[in-house]
Amino acid sequence: MPKGVVEKKVEQSSEFTPEQFAELDAAIESFRGKSGSTIRTLSKAQEIFGYLPKEVQSIVAKGLGIPMSEIYGIATFYSFFSLVPKGKHTISSCQGTACYVRGGKQVMDELKNLLGIDVGGTTADRQFSLDSVRCVGACALAPVVRIDDDVYRQMSPKKLKPIIAKYSDSAEGE
Ligand code: FES
Repeated sequence: MPKGVVEKKVEQSSEFTPEQFAELDAAIESFRGKSGSTIRTLSKAQEIFGYLPKEVQSIVAKGLGIPMSEIYGIATFYSFFSLVPKGKHTISSCQGTACYVRGGKQVMDELKNLLGIDVGGTTADRQFSLDSVRCVGACALAPVVRIDDDVYRQMSPKKLKPIIAKYSDSAEGE
């Protein structure tokens, strides 16, 4: 087997399929040399893989002929790019003014505590990602937590555990 093939296989984790890498190669080919090629390729890569793992950044860098540092700089500058896998469910705690002054910070602290992650993180079992949002338009019933498309109003740290439990895989299978 040629050396290059072995190296490529070692580089690519088993987490992803050959089809995903083929799709990425096609995206690189189609965007190379065009304006905004880096952002467009990274956007497509995130669509394919769900986030931008290092191995994907490396393939994009090589494919477009630009330094890894540039890829990393762009991937970390724009908030819509994620360097970590997203969880099945996204929990967003509102930290807008109305929510914050009515206990939003305590709610966020408890979410971090219950999930064992920080804002922007994902639990090891990839069930939950934690985000902070500014205002979801429900200030009258602050503080607010959103889980996927569901909005929970007048939250308190004590209310969180049973609500999160409803979204865990074991509860969904019941
Ligand atoms: S500040 Fe949280 S909903 Fe408006």
